[in-house]
Amino acid sequence: MITVGIVGCGYWGPNLIRNFRSISEVMVKRVCDLDEQRLAHMKQLYPEIETTTEFEHLIDDEEIGAIAIATPVWTHFELAQKSLAAGKHTFIEKPMASDVDQCTKLIEMAEEKKLTLMVGHTFIYSTPVRKIKEIVDNGDIGEVLCINSQRLNLGLFQKDINVAWDLAPHDISIILYVMGEAPVSVNCQGKAYMLPDVEDVTNMTLNFNNGGFASIQSSWLDPNKVRRMTFVGSKRMILYDDNEPLEKIKIYDKRVETPPHYDTFAEFHYSYHYGDMYCPHLRQIEPLRVQCKHFLDCIHSRSEPQSSGLDGLEVIQILEAASKSLAIDGAKVEIEQPHWKEGQMFLHKLTSKTVAMR
Ligand SMILES: NC(=O)c1ccc[n+]([C@@H]2O[C@H](COP(=O)([O-])OP(=O)(O)OC[C@H]3O[C@@H](n4cnc5c(N)ncnc54)[C@H](O)[C@@H]3O)[C@@H](O)[C@H]2O)c1
Repeated sequence: MITVGIVGCGYWGPNLIRNFRSISEVMVKRVCDLDEQRLAHMKQLYPEIETTTEFEHLIDDEEIGAIAIATPVWTHFELAQKSLAAGKHTFIEKPMASDVDQCTKLIEMAEEKKLTLMVGHTFIYSTPVRKIKEIVDNGDIGEVLCINSQRLNLGLFQKDINVAWDLAPHDISIILYVMGEAPVSVNCQGKAYMLPDVEDVTNMTLNFNNGGFASIQSSWLDPNKVRRMTFVGSKRMILYDDNEPLEKIKIYDKRVETPPHYDTFAEFHYSYHYGDMYCPHLRQIEPLRVQCKHFLDCIHSRSEPQSSGLDGLEVIQILEAASKSLAIDGAKVEIEQPHWKEGQMFLHKLTSKTVAMR
């Protein structure tokens, strides 16, 4: 049994409360928010849960062994630092923190204190994304040539982060998980239409060592909610539409083969291959529940989460590079060999994790 405290009861926090509560080995003892109205609403939903506006009431409570943070990004570092300093296992919603240095400090603290640090990369716990990884790892679609991702909707506008920091962590974490490797450079262009200096539309490109690339379109200015990713393989292609209620993944046996010899353009057309399409059956499980359960399993088994602090840091490194690229009108920004790789106490973890991923 583990006693959990949750900070942040706005749009997303209540989903964490509901999912942690649904796990039999968890007791959600107390939730915290600065907004009394949100706390009153939580009390109405869950009368047994204590509420507080003081984060200290979570960290000073010795019964609470783990804290989940679902507040705005700029608060993540301070709250997570306090949580880890108080000896609590800590779960942080995506994106992990405001910059790479903050992520590094949190990883070091968790390592020093032997605490579980996990980041809310929810989609890697979803059945469609896990199925896509299985298909790609099996070589069923051949070599992944490129990935195209669109995450668009009307709002919800944020004041402290642009749309890339808000929505692209999902796409980036899915891409890193499926590809098992990080990009070497990033390009990003965008525009701020509604709030000065807060881009509400961005187009990001991640460039990989093998020549592959992924493009990520993020928008708060679209009439429709779009959640589509295409994985273009040398043999087949996967279309993942998270808005589809059942058939979220479609695998198309389509490809283009360059014929060894062709004299006319008409002959070149014959090299298109049109085959069948199939939809694998996917179990319907709420990814957030899988993620919350995984956090507890990692605490108990002292194992590294699948979305660890290092994974959170990798996403922030890409977002930082994207912000730099935005400032220079989309020019390419190399992802430096991270300085935190050298001589850090968590190096051994990184090495074993990297090996496991490859
Ligand atoms: N994993 C996902 O799919 C997913 C989806 C949406 C949001 N999120 C993430 O969840 C986090 C919260 O997003 P949201 O949309 O719920 O934001 P929100 O603004 O709706 O809610 C944040 C809440 O935190 C409270 N708060 C702010 N500072 C606080 C502090 N110092 N102490 C206590 N409470 C504080 C606010 O009063 C507010 O109620 C963000 O990191 C966001 O990126 C994740």
